[in-house]
Amino acid sequence: MPARQKHAKIENRKSGSEIQSPKGKLGVMIPGMGAVATTFVAGVEAVRKGIARPIGSLTQMGTIRLGKRTDARSPKIKEFVPLAGLDDLVFTGWDIFEDDMYTAACKAGVLERALLDQVEPFLSTIKPRKAVFDHNYVKKIDGPNVKKGKNKMDLAEQLRADIREFKKTSGASRLVTVWCASTETFIEPSAAHQSVKAFEKALTQNDENIAPSMIYAYASLSEGVPFANGAPNLTVDIPAMHELSRRNEAPICGKDFKTGQTLMKTILAPGFKARLLGLNGWFSTNILGNRDGEVLDDPGSFKTKEESKLSVLEHILQPELYPELYGKFTHKVRINYYPPRGDNKEGWDNIDIFGWLGYPMQIKVDFLCRDSILAAPIVLDLVLFIDLATRCAELRGIGIQEWLSFYFKSPMTAPGLYPEHDLFIQLMKLKNTLRHLRGEELITHLGLEYYD
Ligand SMILES: NC(=O)c1ccc[n+]([C@@H]2O[C@H](COP(=O)([O-])OP(=O)(O)OC[C@H]3O[C@@H](n4cnc5c(N)ncnc54)[C@H](O)[C@@H]3O)[C@@H](O)[C@H]2O)c1
Repeated sequence: MPARQKHAKIENRKSGSEIQSPKGKLGVMIPGMGAVATTFVAGVEAVRKGIARPIGSLTQMGTIRLGKRTDARSPKIKEFVPLAGLDDLVFTGWDIFEDDMYTAACKAGVLERALLDQVEPFLSTIKPRKAVFDHNYVKKIDGPNVKKGKNKMDLAEQLRADIREFKKTSGASRLVTVWCASTETFIEPSAAHQSVKAFEKALTQNDENIAPSMIYAYASLSEGVPFANGAPNLTVDIPAMHELSRRNEAPICGKDFKTGQTLMKTILAPGFKARLLGLNGWFSTNILGNRDGEVLDDPGSFKTKEESKLSVLEHILQPELYPELYGKFTHKVRINYYPPRGDNKEGWDNIDIFGWLGYPMQIKVDFLCRDSILAAPIVLDLVLFIDLATRCAELRGIGIQEWLSFYFKSPMTAPGLYPEHDLFIQLMKLKNTLRHLRGEELITHLGLEYYD
């Protein structure tokens, strides 16, 4: 074998992983039945009824190349790995408001009434369970549908009872939880978060470092149910949850669905770096008028979001490796609550770049996007992929599922690793993980063998 070809072979590992088949129903549990959750569930039902297409979903529409370019093997991802089918999904949720999913979807104002009315019989059967909620963590909203308990551990027990009840009544063989509730106030990791033992003690002591989202996560992982975090909250990104996740073989991933402006950033910034174009500044501002926008109007919740949005450029551009190009750029992110826009956000970016001999240039991006339309397929893919991870011997016990970074603004990684933000590297990581699980060769894009 020619040396170059041999080298390519060594880089390509070959091993398959044991994956249980997705028998029975998959129960999807959603804290937060707002715009994103209702757009996701209504969409799944519309697709099941054949009245809409799952655009934007990698699991439903994506393909994966296998072997050499000349092999012409590119199956659909859902035919390549054993994912749950849409017909097998059943749903429940929690919210501080009492609206069922149909009413909540109408109020969210994302999908047209004509579409919602066709899925009303299904949506209106999904009624919110009483939430674990504390106004101190989400200052801008309050609602009546809230659990009472003697302490945070008691509330966690009530959630665990909900989970068991849903599993029984829905007949689901497996469950997953996806956090689609509001962004909570900014919390930094503290002593209460360092181990399961410390966390459990803090639950009984009503420690203020434990936010409601952490109580859902604790309940979920304690029941062996994987947890995906769609908001930028700390939630499962603490050692206690990593420990619990590994111990109970309940995978975790997060944080903060990568939609809208940050999606654009992670598409554009890798391009600038690839062409060694420098950056002087990136100013991003948004107007949005949905409830998420209202919640983010509070400085505490905004701080959580801001941290998530700001880290992206630093990680992609690697100023430590390219100090001349990226050592001094200004990055600002603003979110303005502007009710007339509803869910139809507008995100503006002014990007000051520089090229050959330092000559400045500008790029303006005006993205008139629909937040929940971009988020819904992410929720679907996460549900199906985290369920796959839970059925997979190699993935279920590792805790953080870094291969799902593709879907997040602020991807979780093993302690000490920097997160990978570049959308295209994230996609390659995801697809190579799937290839690896199925014992297919990883694709390195080396391609020298075509010229031997
Ligand atoms: N839409 C997007 O593109 C996008 C992108 C990234 C992240 N997110 C995040 O996803 C989350 C949902 O976004 P949305 O637009 O659907 O917001 P939304 O305000 O429409 O829905 C959130 C729902 O969560 C409920 N809620 C709040 N705290 C709760 C609790 N403790 N338990 C149960 N329910 C609770 C609220 O009552 C509300 O109905 C937000 O945190 C948002 O920041 C959204």
